[in-house]
Amino acid sequence: MSTQRTATLTLDGQTYEFPVLSGTIGPDVIDIRSLYGKSGAFTFDPGFMSTAACKSSITYIDGDKGELLYRGYPIEQLAVNCNYLETSYLLKFGELPNKAQYDEFENSVRTHTMVHEQLTRLYQGFRRDAHPMSILVGVVGALAAYYQDSLDINNPDHRSIAATRLLAKMPTIVAMAYKYTQGQPFMYPRNDLDYSSNFLHMMFATPCEKYEPNPVLARALDRILILHADHEQNASTSTVRLSGSSGANPFACIAAGIACLWGPAHGGANEACLVMLDEIQRSGGVDKIGDFIAKVKDKNSGVKLMGFGHRVYKNYDPRAKLMRETCHEVLNELGLHDDPLFKLAMALEKIALEDEYFVSRKLYPNVDFYSGIVQKAMGIPVSLFTGIFAMARVIGWIAQWHEMIGDPEQKIGRPRQLYTGSVQRDVIPMSQR
Ligand code: SDX
Repeated sequence: MSTQRTATLTLDGQTYEFPVLSGTIGPDVIDIRSLYGKSGAFTFDPGFMSTAACKSSITYIDGDKGELLYRGYPIEQLAVNCNYLETSYLLKFGELPNKAQYDEFENSVRTHTMVHEQLTRLYQGFRRDAHPMSILVGVVGALAAYYQDSLDINNPDHRSIAATRLLAKMPTIVAMAYKYTQGQPFMYPRNDLDYSSNFLHMMFATPCEKYEPNPVLARALDRILILHADHEQNASTSTVRLSGSSGANPFACIAAGIACLWGPAHGGANEACLVMLDEIQRSGGVDKIGDFIAKVKDKNSGVKLMGFGHRVYKNYDPRAKLMRETCHEVLNELGLHDDPLFKLAMALEKIALEDEYFVSRKLYPNVDFYSGIVQKAMGIPVSLFTGIFAMARVIGWIAQWHEMIGDPEQKIGRPRQLYTGSVQRDVIPMSQR
């Protein structure tokens, strides 16, 4: 009979034992749920550098090896052999679909791509120059007002239709945010197109002329969506889980995830990366990379090499390698291989990979480093990059949210703190202050 492994902690002369739990692969965890009850002390882990917040069987990352698995399948194999909807089925249900399952799933998504017609008026409330992420946070949260038959998180049918609606409508909502900021009419989805081609149609078609999506660009976008679909317990996924733990409806939870993803340290990095490359380009291009790197190394500058570094990957982000390939394909297809930004990015990558500052800190290019260049080459505005990331990640958020709801051990998330404020004191009337 296997004996329960334990970890021992001694505090003020008192010894406490905690069970050690093992997953299928990856680091073990020390189950410290009873720590506060036994010892009166909390753990302290700002940024959750050493904290596993949940059990999950969806995505596995090995940061040292640069490995990423969706339900056990390597991202390299999924990106080459599958499309985004197939990958979405895998993330949500745990297995790759057979043809019949895929066709049913694709059809359920295809027949939910339109949004409630009244939702189009919600866009009118935004300024035309609003950042698309501000529109997405508002519109996705507002879905709860239009789809009131899918808010009961304890009803599996509600959970299922909410998931389908989110996956199906995100491309429509993101494309509408773009069209609105361009002052162009919204384009309705076309049910004769595949998921990614349909998005390109809604983005770039106009009522005035026929538009056929470029299949190479549609495939490149589909790969971007696959690479960004899920990523374990990252900041926005943790936000979705924490929101869901209070019983909030799925649209509210996903809107919370979108808000978190907006940050430049997270999903906003691809936009920030393009802004960084543009700044270097304007200040002199490749010849000025050295000056920029010097600024990055100067702690007081607050300047970071956007698109580099990762909390988990201390090796090349496997998604960055695949995104780099996609970058080449798109630039070749569009005859942009002499694209100055791409050449600058390649020069920056080469220098950074050889520079001791980055090597010693294990700072490698992450997925965002190349995704911005690909999207810019495809004609997607920089301000919409994070919106595309949200569109891709929505299936990961949904799968993680579903898993949390179904976890018999899940409770409302409620971290504690190390209090460093004033001890109790009495109020003095203002006349005496
Ligand atoms: C995503 O979590 C996920 O999985 C996220 C994501 C997903 O799919 O959901 O992968 C998507 O968010 C990718 C990351 C995109 N962000 C960026 O590209 C922004 C630039 N990167 C950094 O902000 C940073 O690397 C983070 C936020 C991504 C990770 O930061 P950590 O793990 O907290 O690392 P750290 O800040 O403790 O850095 C360790 C050292 C520090 O230097 P020292 O104090 O040791 O001297 O590395 C330095 C940092 O200053 N450093 C960088 C750097 N990133 C870290 N220095 C220059 N440029 C950088 N980009």
